[in-house]
Amino acid sequence: MSWHLTISVCRDIDEPLSRQIQSAIKEKIRNGVLLPGVPLPSSRLLARDIGVSRSVVVEAYEQMSAEGYLEAVQGSGTRVATRSIAGADRRSRLDEPSAPPVRWDLRVGATDVTNFPLQEWLSCYQRATQSLGPSGLSYPPISGIASLRTELASYLGRVRGVRVEPAHTMVTLGFAHGLGLLCRTLPTMGIDRIGVENPGSGKQLQFIRSTGMRAVPVPVDADGVDIDALTRSGVRAVLVTAAHQFPTGATMPPQRRQALLRWASDVNGIIIEDDYDTEFWFDQRERPPAIQGCDPERVVYGGSLSKVLAPGLRLGWLALPEWLVGAVEAARASSDQGCDSITQLAVSEFLRAGLLDRHLRRLRPRYRSRLETVVQAVRRHLPGASIRGASAGRHVYVELPHHVDEAAVVEGALRRSVLLRGGGHFRLAEIPGVTPRPALVIGYSSVRPSDINEALARVGEAYAPYAGRRASRPAVHLTRAIGQPLRIPRSAAVP
Ligand SMILES: Cc1ncc(COP(=O)(O)O)c(C=O)c1O
Repeated sequence: MSWHLTISVCRDIDEPLSRQIQSAIKEKIRNGVLLPGVPLPSSRLLARDIGVSRSVVVEAYEQMSAEGYLEAVQGSGTRVATRSIAGADRRSRLDEPSAPPVRWDLRVGATDVTNFPLQEWLSCYQRATQSLGPSGLSYPPISGIASLRTELASYLGRVRGVRVEPAHTMVTLGFAHGLGLLCRTLPTMGIDRIGVENPGSGKQLQFIRSTGMRAVPVPVDADGVDIDALTRSGVRAVLVTAAHQFPTGATMPPQRRQALLRWASDVNGIIIEDDYDTEFWFDQRERPPAIQGCDPERVVYGGSLSKVLAPGLRLGWLALPEWLVGAVEAARASSDQGCDSITQLAVSEFLRAGLLDRHLRRLRPRYRSRLETVVQAVRRHLPGASIRGASAGRHVYVELPHHVDEAAVVEGALRRSVLLRGGGHFRLAEIPGVTPRPALVIGYSSVRPSDINEALARVGEAYAPYAGRRASRPAVHLTRAIGQPLRIPRSAAVP
């Protein structure tokens, strides 16, 4: 291989050339510029590139190998030692903190990527790559390639009742990216605070705050975000997961939706609708349409392929009101250059051929059968618990009796090799005068169906000290339970 390495030597100083090469390479290793395992050019090539005799480089490589900086790998030349003196374990500060190694991971939010429709994707990706041509390999339009925006607008209209023209549809690097763009745009319109659901996503809270926008937690009840509290907060923008609230699973009923839209109109504000998890609605006849369809001028609709295909694709979208398009495009043009064209074209093919619809039809029954297993296991191992939010998605919100110590159950489960979150993990702020009910949020998308019962049996062991004891009600408690009571749809009628 003709690897290249950028170093130089100086002939005007006394230091021997071999030592200069060693110093330059060692410094790059110590500074983390040359990472463990990085291949180096052959002695012949490096000698030619920097204009020294080959024996000088051979001497330098041999010395550094003896000192443990480099290693010769049979048949593939010389590399930086994998256990480099400079320390091989350089984690990026942006990497997720690693989860403790456990046997069962019941955290919410994971995507079961083993379901990824690889063959169908490969054929779309291949067609996309072949059909791109020179112009397609140039910089893409900032809001996304035309064919994908058209496919998305028609898909979202057909499936979610979203009213948007392709010209107002923006392709993003996932929902998080779209949210960041909105948070950088709204201040230009005099909106610098945004309401976020409490409980809600701590990660989204971080994204919002990192843009300089102030996030104001607004309580959620059985019907979603509390409109009186939203009004009192004085914000003019709010982020909601109206169809399947994250994490409680509450579905906002029509009256609350109307109240939310009235609020937005009264404050001349904007609703950002994160259409989280609605692809996995089990009874399609009951799937609530997007709020955006009721007022496309006040609601920005957002979604992504992260949960339905794979988060690694980093592909999402925003359906924007016409008046907001220019400002969001301007915010975007100042920070990025659009999304990868080949992936966009492949997704456009995938949608056009109806492969997303087909993929979801295959997945829903699988998730439904996992849900049924979870429900049975919760009933068996967590007596007294109530399951919420089971009409859709890949997790359930399990409310526990008031006397249960939620943190102790979560810790006890972890000691038994089950990683899951308690309701408190999603609490973004205390709600004055309210004692939240203990809860467990149980994700079932990345645990094997055959493992669900065993994993929940372990959680049940951690819960056992509380089972069977009578609940003593707290002095003040949530006025209304969160989420809908359990009702698993019969054979999911999928259109
Ligand atoms: C509440 C919520 N909405 C949306 C998403 C999807 O984000 P993205 O599209 O950036 O992967 C997530 C990811 O976990 C989430 O937790």
